[in-house]
Amino acid sequence: MQIIKRVKDVQDISRWFRCEGKFIGFVPTMGALHEGHLSLVRRSKEENDRTIVSIFVNPTQFGPNEDLQKYPRDIEGDLSKLSSLQVDTVFIPDNEEMYPDGFSTSIDIGGIGKVLCGALRPGHFNAVAAVIAKLLNISMPHRMYLGQKDFQQTVVIKKLVRDLNYDMNIIVSPTVREHDGLAMSSRNVYLSGEERKASLILYKALKLGEEIIMSNGLDDISAVKKEMEALIRSEPLAKIEYVKVVDPYNLEPVQRVIFAAVICIAVKIGNIRLIDNIIIEKS
Ligand code: PAJ
Repeated sequence: MQIIKRVKDVQDISRWFRCEGKFIGFVPTMGALHEGHLSLVRRSKEENDRTIVSIFVNPTQFGPNEDLQKYPRDIEGDLSKLSSLQVDTVFIPDNEEMYPDGFSTSIDIGGIGKVLCGALRPGHFNAVAAVIAKLLNISMPHRMYLGQKDFQQTVVIKKLVRDLNYDMNIIVSPTVREHDGLAMSSRNVYLSGEERKASLILYKALKLGEEIIMSNGLDDISAVKKEMEALIRSEPLAKIEYVKVVDPYNLEPVQRVIFAAVICIAVKIGNIRLIDNIIIEKS
């Protein structure tokens, strides 16, 4: 497994893979890897000849009061997991390599970056779009693997790829959960024992929403939201940031589900902000 710190070296390797006629899969991450990340890596390994993984805690996507400084980091553990999956190349740049002095270009992804999590994290999705644009120009993959866990992020990145004509495909893989339903997340390590128990309310609420929509003829979304909110409020440690039922393509709120919708929620458990979602498809 090659561990690379320089942009130019990854570009050389990627160009070489392409010259050899190899298909390249790319998995962008911020490290502290868990089974959710590893499911993407495994899928990339299965579907491509070469897999490149990036580990970069992108400072520009964190707000001033967010957890950049204490974001979990475990480079040694990450590398050993990636090496046991026989990843070909790991890109681990430092901030200076990604944002050298004088760096100033920005991307405005538009309205889809300003709703849901974007309404509470101004500039976050523009920064995600910009770092992904850079990572795509560095790794030059045929396919990029993203998790459904960060649903809005997948919509934002699909738009980036479409708008800027990146010649590659995006594959969105299902959310990997703990045995009790909690979506795996690098931030789960912050949860105390009591908060960990309380965090189950997110998945319970999503399943409740899904059940009501499926059984009630998919018509009255405001009632669904009310029932989900009431359930979440029954958990004393939980504070709702939002419960929304949106169109999976443009993230606009839906009043009724015609073909498909996504229930997206963000809930604070103590000080830890957790997000989760479930896709509802009418068959
Ligand atoms: P990070 O949070 O490390 O996530 C990297 C990728 O893993 C994302 O595509 C995310 O959706 C996916 N992922 C996280 N938890 C998952 C789970 N439980 N099941 C399936 N996939 C999961 O998302 C980022 O990093 C950054 O914003 C990044 C895209 C790397 C840009 O900096």
